[in-house]
Amino acid sequence: MKFFVDTAEIDDIKELNALGIVDGVTTNPSLIAKSGRDILEVTKEICSIVDGPVSAEVVALNADDMIAEGRKLAKIADNIAVKVPLTWDGLKACNVLTNEGHMVNVTLCFSANQALLAAKVGATFISPFIGRLDDLNLDGMELIADIRNIYDNYGFETQILAASIRSANHMSDCAAVGADVATAPPGVIKKMADHVLTEKGLEGFMKDVAKANIKIV
Ligand code: E4P
Repeated sequence: MKFFVDTAEIDDIKELNALGIVDGVTTNPSLIAKSGRDILEVTKEICSIVDGPVSAEVVALNADDMIAEGRKLAKIADNIAVKVPLTWDGLKACNVLTNEGHMVNVTLCFSANQALLAAKVGATFISPFIGRLDDLNLDGMELIADIRNIYDNYGFETQILAASIRSANHMSDCAAVGADVATAPPGVIKKMADHVLTEKGLEGFMKDVAKANIKIV
């Protein structure tokens, strides 16, 4: 499973990218607003750091304007994936931008039918939002599994990009059900390394290091 980092914070992207675990980046208007920076400027900087796809989201609501914005975003760098919402207009924009050779990430997906339509119009990525479904007592992970099944039935090449990830468990569950990509905030990716028994075990080892005065360098 590929790891995308869901942020527009440059320091976080640099830290995780240096570790070799960042396969791409996703942003959205809320993350850009949080960064306090100009969308074109910050997206260009992210694209210069990361080799993989960097999703940049359009802000228009009608297809023609989304297409114009998508073309402008795609000019930033070769690794831009234009992000469009899963609306009827977004699907039209996805189709046009895909046919022009751009990567397109269709976002705000909450149902298998929406994912089916995104695949039919040639989306590079479909972004089902797990956390926001879970917030409503629905099962976000079940949606990922359903889309995996549907795409496999028909050999759709659209990649399932699990989004709205809120916990480390979401990451391993996504991998278990076969998401192609999971995008998560930096804090969630770091939490994947935590285990209480690792901490406890290390504490015990450190006590013995002190007791026996063990030195290596
Ligand atoms: C990523 O592409 C999405 O925009 C993001 O994961 C949404 O996450 P949220 O539901 O935590 O805002």
